[in-house]
Amino acid sequence: EKHFLAEHQLKNIKITITAGPTREAIDPVRYISNHSSGKMGFALAAAAAAMGADVTLITGPVTLATPAGVTRIDVTTAEQMHAAALKRAELSQVFIGCAAVADYRVADIATQKMKKTTDDSINLTLIKNPDIIADVAGLSRNRPFTVGFAAETQNVVHYAKDKLIRKKLDLICANDVSNSELGFNSDNNAITLISAVDEKTLPLQSKTELAKAILLHIYLQFSAK
Ligand code: CTP
Ligand code: CA
Repeated sequence: EKHFLAEHQLKNIKITITAGPTREAIDPVRYISNHSSGKMGFALAAAAAAMGADVTLITGPVTLATPAGVTRIDVTTAEQMHAAALKRAELSQVFIGCAAVADYRVADIATQKMKKTTDDSINLTLIKNPDIIADVAGLSRNRPFTVGFAAETQNVVHYAKDKLIRKKLDLICANDVSNSELGFNSDNNAITLISAVDEKTLPLQSKTELAKAILLHIYLQFSAK
């Protein structure tokens, strides 16, 4: 068993990765989003391309440069990411859902800027967005090896395992975001890789190093199938 991926080891493998946040409009000047920086997804895309993979990176709004050799698709909303991801997923052998997809979108997006009223409170009705990775993992034909991420602040492994099973994933990368050193905007991260059969903790390291370790793990599981 090799413990690293050689330069061309992922040659001829198509990998689709989602990254960054999505952004859900409230009106023409306001939106709902989250603090995802896109760094982990971009690091995975860069590492996979460096190993020779054919990489498509579907990303929400981030300020990162496109890694060398990567095909980038920019989207804004969860619905746009869902459409782009499903189209690419069927053509891919591996799908990695790294995006922090907004769970809900605004039911009625105002066409004009909303004006402040004399009321002390207002209500926004939110509708659930489609679950992109669950739909990819549920593909009945050309289903890729599907890898999710779970950012949790408590019961990290328990919640991640629940997502692995519920979304029918092959692998989930559990991320403890209760510690601000890890995840989101940080350049470093530590994760636990969980599959139906085993669990492996990758200690705190740069997202670049972590990306290589995650890809090696994916490659070993994927090529064993
Ligand atoms: N995900 C997705 N589409 C969504 C929501 C999540 O593809 N609409 C993916 C993420 O990219 C990630 C995994 O699902 O790979 C887990 O995301 P997470 O937000 O942790 O899961 P949720 O099912 O939304 O659960 P939670 O209530 O913890 O937010
Ligand atoms: Ca969520």
